[in-house]
Amino acid sequence: MVSFTFRGFCAPVFTIFNKDQSVNTKLIPEYAKYLAQNGVHGVLVHGSSSEGMCMSAVERKASLEAWLKAVKTTKQHLMVQVGGCPLPDVLDLAKHAEKVGADSILCLPELYFKPSTVKELINYLKLVGEAAPNTPLLYYHIPRWSGVNINMEQFLNQVGEVIPNFKGIKYSSNDLDAGLAALRVKNRKYAVFLGANTLIAPAFAMGFDSTIGTSLNMLPQYSVAIAKAIKENNLNEATKIQEELSAIIDVITKNGHWVPTMKAAATLLSPIDVGKTRPPLANLTDDQVTEMKESLKRFSLL
Ligand SMILES: *[C@@H]1O[C@H](CO)[C@@H](O)[C@H](O)[C@H]1NC(C)=O
Repeated sequence: MVSFTFRGFCAPVFTIFNKDQSVNTKLIPEYAKYLAQNGVHGVLVHGSSSEGMCMSAVERKASLEAWLKAVKTTKQHLMVQVGGCPLPDVLDLAKHAEKVGADSILCLPELYFKPSTVKELINYLKLVGEAAPNTPLLYYHIPRWSGVNINMEQFLNQVGEVIPNFKGIKYSSNDLDAGLAALRVKNRKYAVFLGANTLIAPAFAMGFDSTIGTSLNMLPQYSVAIAKAIKENNLNEATKIQEELSAIIDVITKNGHWVPTMKAAATLLSPIDVGKTRPPLANLTDDQVTEMKESLKRFSLL
């Protein structure tokens, strides 16, 4: 029986690209350590923030191995996203992830011949689950980017009978109502990681206990403090911190696409220089970064 007990905070880490766009693995140990020291006990590699879909399978394997080496020291849970490429590569990446000892696997849906029913999605994930049968498998629900919007409550009610190692989802949607319905399936049988940085307080107040949010890369103290306040039944405090985090995210992301703006913010606010994005994502201009820096001063973060 495959078991999956990891809950809490998982940072969807950035991939650090060198100026020539090759992958820089040298800073990974320091990056992992910074997160661990700030209450982040898990990392997700090759999700959206990592630009995993912009990397070749060969690069993804090497990057995963570098992260696995780093978390041996920090004892963080390592989840790896294997989707976003042709199915033969997805299966190859899943097999590799199991072979090298990733703690769990997250997978996007097929992005071209997209599933339109629960059954089609389950059939696809079944192949991934069979490629790595001894590793917990989770599904990456992110309709705004994948274009796949299957009802997660219905999906979770059916998937367990077909995929024995299926353990949960990353729920990247602002529809909290549907997220809560997914959480309640079979008496919380599945892990549901919230992927919405501006809804941590309401989601945790309603029973969520886990999140994979980009802001954990540079502002982990906010998510940690929100969860703590909720635990202590201090809803006022939790919402106050959430409002501030949401305002900061607003200031960061108004300058462009989510990933390049968040990467620029991480370089400003964390000890790690996470570098620039790869095409097709556009980098911010120097002026945009300067403006972001000025606006962040308002929050006494710099
Ligand atoms: C962003 O900057 C990096 C590093 O300077 C460069 O390699 C990359 O091509 C740039 N991205 C785009 C879309 O221009």
